[in-house]
Amino acid sequence: MRIHVLTMFPEWFDGPLAVSIVARAIEDGVLDVTIHDLREHGLGRHRQLDDSPFGGGPGMVMMVEPLAKALVPLGATHRVLFTPAGRPLTQAALDRWAGTPEITFVCGRYEGVDQRVIDNLIDEEVSLGDYVLAGGEVAAAAAIEGVARLIPGVVGNPESTEKESFRGGLLEEPVYTRPAEFEGWAVPEVLLSGDHARIEAWRAEQRSKRTRERRPDLLGDGDESET
Ligand code: 6GU
Repeated sequence: MRIHVLTMFPEWFDGPLAVSIVARAIEDGVLDVTIHDLREHGLGRHRQLDDSPFGGGPGMVMMVEPLAKALVPLGATHRVLFTPAGRPLTQAALDRWAGTPEITFVCGRYEGVDQRVIDNLIDEEVSLGDYVLAGGEVAAAAAIEGVARLIPGVVGNPESTEKESFRGGLLEEPVYTRPAEFEGWAVPEVLLSGDHARIEAWRAEQRSKRTRERRPDLLGDGDESET
């Protein structure tokens, strides 16, 4: 799988691409990530990438020309713009992207991108959630990691990508490991019982309880268009 990233801050990705699952996927040759420096397509002596908005107002807007010059030569890849104005990132989107041989992630700056880029060159707009960051770089890194761990052979235990939060539609239950007691903090007795039916019943109950308390929106009657 090949991922292109268009960014004003190419050095931002040095860390995220160099560690853990993403680094291993790249090393193993199952993932290729190419970082494109938007500045190379900037206009004029200052390689300008943004300008003030028509109609006035605060902030700067990313211009059409540098983005078009960066995107068009990459050909007809699936193009995602990361912007707080997008639809929230979901596991369903990561699953879909992981099945795409070539994808382009465009990191917007939060004030915005000229709408003509979006109308003509972008397939979908995606946000990381309901809060404001300076740019789309964190979202692109999240998406790269989320996609990398779905590529067959990248995660050690392939079962662990099947049965996790958001796959079953519920949050994961709490987990424990040795020792069975630490300074008076005990592991729930049921987990030490060896009674697998009781253990599974406890786990299912914990998943429901957590989901009810923390994410009632996952339990239905909300908008489930892409969960
Ligand atoms: Cl994708 N970009 C920015 N600038 N802020 C965000 C975001 C993206 N997602 C949540 N907040």
